[in-house]
Amino acid sequence: MTRPAVLVARAVFPDVVERLRHHFDVEHNPDDEVWSADELRRRLAGKSGALLTASERIDAALLDAHPRLRVLANMAVGYNNIDVPACTARGVLVTNTPDVLTETTADFGFALMMAAARRIAESEHFLRAGRWTKWRYDMFVGADVHGATLGILGMGRIGQAVARRGALGFGMPVIYHNRSRLPGEVEQPLGARWVDKDTLFRDADHVVLVLPYSPAVHHVVGERELALMKPTATLTNIARGGIVDDAALARALAERRIAAAALDVFEGEPQLHPGLLEVPNVVLTPHIASASVATRRAMATLAADNLIAALTGAAPPTPVNPEVLAPRRD
Ligand code: GLV
Repeated sequence: MTRPAVLVARAVFPDVVERLRHHFDVEHNPDDEVWSADELRRRLAGKSGALLTASERIDAALLDAHPRLRVLANMAVGYNNIDVPACTARGVLVTNTPDVLTETTADFGFALMMAAARRIAESEHFLRAGRWTKWRYDMFVGADVHGATLGILGMGRIGQAVARRGALGFGMPVIYHNRSRLPGEVEQPLGARWVDKDTLFRDADHVVLVLPYSPAVHHVVGERELALMKPTATLTNIARGGIVDDAALARALAERRIAAAALDVFEGEPQLHPGLLEVPNVVLTPHIASASVATRRAMATLAADNLIAALTGAAPPTPVNPEVLAPRRD
């Protein structure tokens, strides 16, 4: 019997690739080359499955070019790189890596928020540039984190983990906005209060964005929302590029209409809006919120588990569109 062929589109832990080789003919990308869309299309030829990252785009035309594809295992919790309805319509299973990255990503979001509030990156750049000549009472004074109001946009697993850190560790009142209000048993231990979106931007001292990207939330933080924020407030984005209008944010930071921002994700990354590189009051990191050794390993392992299960007739642990697993009636 011929073994299914799978593509591992990016470099990943070698032992995870070895594990896949026990089940499949594996083509992989150990040098982590950046493939064009055409190259990805070419490499997917004849494959039954693929292990992808959030950087590989999968659309309906690509799926139509590869009718043998059965499963796309994304090594990320977000899956806006994949046209899921198009996959579902063609019976292609999509899987992601939720849960295993929740706490690590929340740690990083909290660290970014603290870095923005307390001006850690900005003051470090100052020191490295040899500009520190004396102590001064108002040198790099920022905003407190403890006791300040934490505003979370997107109160899913990671949002709740950020809220736990704020409420239980730093005594922060938590307000949040989500499509739906959370049940009392989730809200109460955190003292979390649902507010409408404008109230969130108006009242929070530190806003953290943790909502999944979809076209409906494109630029959900733009000129108008930034104008609602306090001049002392900070904005942290650990969600996805495109949720924030980066050009509007760069202007607001330059004009000190908000105090600071911290961004791990960008519109059009790895390119950045040039204005963000010009302002000192923003912390910039290269999409690494889930990047602890243990968590990246857990994500790769879970993506491989999904791929193996889906192509060997077992139940994939974390399907995004489980409806394609329903027994076919034809
Ligand atoms: C990373 O951005 C992820 O979605 O896991």
